Amino acid sequence: NTGALWGARFADGPSAELAALSRSTHFDWQLAPYDIAGSRAHARALQTAGYLTADELERMRAGLDRLEASFLDGVLQPADSDEDVHGALERLLIADVGPELGGKLRAGRSRNDQIATLGRMHMLDHGRRIGRMVIDLVDAISQQASEHEGAIMPGRTHLQHAQPVLLAHHLLAHAWPLVRDLERLRDWAARAGVSPYGAGALAGSSLGLDPTAIAHELGFDRPADNSIDATAARDAVAEFAFVLAQIGIDVSRLAEEVILWNTKEFGFVRLHDAFSTGSSIMPQKKNPDIAELARGKSGRLIGNLTGLLATLKGLPLAYNRDLQEDKEPVFDSVATLEVLLPAFTGMIATLTFDTDRMAELAPQGFSLATDVAEWLVRQGVPFRDAHEVSGALVRYCEERGIDLDDPTDDEYAAVSAHLTPEVRAVLTIEGSVASRRGVGGTAPERVAEQLAALTRSVREI
Ligand code: ARG
Repeated sequence: NTGALWGARFADGPSAELAALSRSTHFDWQLAPYDIAGSRAHARALQTAGYLTADELERMRAGLDRLEASFLDGVLQPADSDEDVHGALERLLIADVGPELGGKLRAGRSRNDQIATLGRMHMLDHGRRIGRMVIDLVDAISQQASEHEGAIMPGRTHLQHAQPVLLAHHLLAHAWPLVRDLERLRDWAARAGVSPYGAGALAGSSLGLDPTAIAHELGFDRPADNSIDATAARDAVAEFAFVLAQIGIDVSRLAEEVILWNTKEFGFVRLHDAFSTGSSIMPQKKNPDIAELARGKSGRLIGNLTGLLATLKGLPLAYNRDLQEDKEPVFDSVATLEVLLPAFTGMIATLTFDTDRMAELAPQGFSLATDVAEWLVRQGVPFRDAHEVSGALVRYCEERGIDLDDPTDDEYAAVSAHLTPEVRAVLTIEGSVASRRGVGGTAPERVAEQLAALTRSVREI
């Protein structure tokens, strides 16, 4: 049982079947740099507490530096016999600095406090990376919004024409949820920035090591308040998986619209060649695969979150080996977004909008009927009656296959005495959009303010 972290109390080594089940190096090896950083901080704490001489600390840290360099070179690899990243690295350290010194490192720590700490370090690092990618996507959306300042599109509810809105307003409605996701990442990071190191297996250490010094050396704000909680809790992992799933869902909703907009029937956007795919049989095809993969992968991100929550439900305190199952889902969510977001951002940044087509469709489906009703309200008609009059006008036009501004003055008057010719002033999509100038509305000046506010919010995160 050479190199194992345990074994003395066992008469026999582990069966091959147990070893195969237990082994986690195929996924936790990516935590090696964090494990090494933790060991460096731990070695210093051991020295401060008097368990290592200054010279031993120096040799230990030099050995850890060599392991790290060879990991970064891709040379350092776990052996088949290694159970996990912690055991593999201890074996490799001992091979480097010798058993006398290497054997001292494990004092006062457990794989339980180690893994809880390394997981957080990994998430905090990737959380920052994903945050930057989300900012790039928000920038791409904002850029498209500012390049299409006056463009008007059909706004929809129930996927039916509802009221005309600015394209920029609609695009920014996809950016705000992503800004909130950035805030979620920031808020989560403040909670996750607490170090489990020093909690030991569950009860803390008797060796007088300083968990605060370790926490600070590893970039955490402070050590955990409760050693049991520190080693057993995984809500920080679940919360991170949730934020990643929410990012996936927010991206997926925009993806779905790109897919629709890119159809012949909508004809709102054209995809850049570099961000669309062809068909192996139909030569004419140009498919929105990035958007479809975004939609598909959001399901996978949700699965990772729900799987993780199911693992945690009902687990007694403190550490249980079930907790090893927290790694793969979150690693997968991280890898999924890190490959998806740059492609998706490229697709959004290079979309071409057919604003003429959007403007042509914007007034169709009687989408200015609300403008007629609100114009009547401004003339002093109670909204209940205004709604009736506008509805009657829609019916009149629909039966004749004409638009709301087509009837003659007499025809208007026949529908209702309230409908004077002045109503025509609100029957343009520009007039409709410009009139919605309340806070958060789609009027051009409000949308310009909104874009500035959004840019400010992102800068402040
Ligand atoms: N590999 C484990 C995990 O990922 C950490 C090791 C703890 N093992 C143990 N037997 N206490 O959670």
